[in-house]
Amino acid sequence: MRTLLQLSWFFRKYWKRYAVGIFFLFVIDLLMLWPPHLIGQTVDQIRNGSLTPSGLARTVAILLGLGLVMYAIRFLWRYLLYGGALILERTLRDRLFAHLTRMTPSFYQRRRSGDLMAVATNDIPAIQMTAGDGVLTLVDSLFATLLTLSVMIVAIDWKLTLAALVPMPLLAWATAYYGRLLHERFYLAQEAFGELNDHVQQSVSGVRVLRAFVQEEEDVEAFRRVSEKTLERNVSVSRIDALFEPTIAVIIGFSFLIGLGYGTYLVFTSAISLGDLVAFNLYLGLLIWPMFAFGWLMNILQRGSASHKRLLELFDEQPDVADPPQPVTRLTSSTVEARSFTFRYPGAETPALRDVSFVLKEGETLGIVGRTGSGKSTLCRALLHQYPVERESLFVGGVPVERISLSALREKIAYVPQEHLLFSRTIAANAAFGRPDATRDEVAHALELAEMGRDLSQFPAGLETMVGEKGVTLSGGQKQRISIARALLMNADILVLDDCLSAVDARTEESILRHLREERAGKTTIIAAHRLSAVQHAHLILVLDEGRVVERGTHDELMALDGWYAEQYRRQQMERYVAGQG
Ligand SMILES: Nc1ncnc2c1ncn2[C@@H]1O[C@H](COP(=O)(O)OP(=O)(O)OP(=O)(O)O)[C@@H](O)[C@H]1O
Ligand SMILES: [Mg+2]
Repeated sequence: MRTLLQLSWFFRKYWKRYAVGIFFLFVIDLLMLWPPHLIGQTVDQIRNGSLTPSGLARTVAILLGLGLVMYAIRFLWRYLLYGGALILERTLRDRLFAHLTRMTPSFYQRRRSGDLMAVATNDIPAIQMTAGDGVLTLVDSLFATLLTLSVMIVAIDWKLTLAALVPMPLLAWATAYYGRLLHERFYLAQEAFGELNDHVQQSVSGVRVLRAFVQEEEDVEAFRRVSEKTLERNVSVSRIDALFEPTIAVIIGFSFLIGLGYGTYLVFTSAISLGDLVAFNLYLGLLIWPMFAFGWLMNILQRGSASHKRLLELFDEQPDVADPPQPVTRLTSSTVEARSFTFRYPGAETPALRDVSFVLKEGETLGIVGRTGSGKSTLCRALLHQYPVERESLFVGGVPVERISLSALREKIAYVPQEHLLFSRTIAANAAFGRPDATRDEVAHALELAEMGRDLSQFPAGLETMVGEKGVTLSGGQKQRISIARALLMNADILVLDDCLSAVDARTEESILRHLREERAGKTTIIAAHRLSAVQHAHLILVLDEGRVVERGTHDELMALDGWYAEQYRRQQMERYVAGQG
């Protein structure tokens, strides 16, 4: 019930639809009372011999007409109420999706993607059911019960009605009891289903690794176990389900027994007519569905409220990076500066960056190098304000990043992340992802600059080649180059490349970097890399180690310093020579 109250914002918004739908429901429940009365009347007419052919024809005509009218009204309320529930489902889905897109990486680190999917695929439909079937059942069973009982008491006999209702408390008890059992077992079954989901998701996305390590059989076996568990739990739900209906049927049977026995006695003592008895039994029949419906309603509402709770919890999650109250929305320059910047990932014990300082003027290039895990990607992500940062320590365009609106920052900085992501669309659509309005020539030019030209000419459909499952499988280097084209197309004032040339060969890397220098003259560029040749031309190179800047300077200065950089550079040159590329 609370769920319905919590959803009242929705019912208020669509109150006309609900008001009309519920009104029609009421009309149906009212009309349903008519046929038993007509039939009872006819029985009485047969008994006292007053039934005429034309009278019978009229009754049949009324019943037929009633059937048609009810047919139309039933369609209308279904359309209105179920349609409303579907609108709710869409509204919630849209809100969830918008919410998820606002969340920062730390949120996705905390929440399993399988669980997030489950909210969208299980919980939202459960809430939809609460607003559709739930509202319908609640209103309908209430109306039907009250109306039918009133007619039975007023038009037939209150003592008979009361007697027939004696088994009903038992019905209520059985419904509540089975309902609780069902709920508990259903919860366990859902849990097992979640586990099953997660297993499938991981196996499918990791199938290559699975097969590479010859773990298919183990995985199949593990899946069988999870699947077995899910089956057992679902069977235990069905067992209760299977017990429920026969129990209810027996209890209702008792009602009929009393109605018939006591009713016959009343007919013999002429307290009611035979027609009344027939009508009474038909009315009793009308009460069966609302009784079932109550049990079912409890079920729907319980599921709906559990689901709604999960959804609200998700909506309550605030992004840990949000716009400040009065954000700076326009950046006039593209300098980048860090003033003894220290950074800690949310929840991490030790800082991932310590005391990092540098000044990058407009149009300059910064190189970030260092062994793996030294903090290169972290510095890039901090610059994009993907995580909360210390105040007044990281500046873009002279403004502390925490004071810049997120959209302004993202417009200012084009970013090629280390883990690139392509979508199952065409190559052109992937490249134009950040600028859907780009012309074909612009897209082609950007891909050209990223050295994808030759690859494209070998694909069957060129720019229109599909990427991913439905199209070509791209190499790591091709994916990286498309990601670079995507960033180049943004033509942003600041470009951040996080180790995004690792999978292309040295010669290709060189020509991409040359294009970058030509194309982006006067614009700021930040390059994180393992291969030192990628940062050779930078105005400033930072060597990171465990989050600290251990060496800094231009290529020549660092070579003269003869530290980690110089040693690493010589080694890489040697490797290149040995590999025959130098
Ligand atoms: N999301 C995260 N949450 C917590 N700690 C993280 C997170 N990402 C990275 N780290 C930690 O921060 C440190 C720096 O990682 P980072 O990814 O910045 O290194 P990197 O220099 O880019 O390494 P690589 O060359 O392998 O890309 C590492 O100790 C890593 O474990
Ligand atoms: Mg990295």
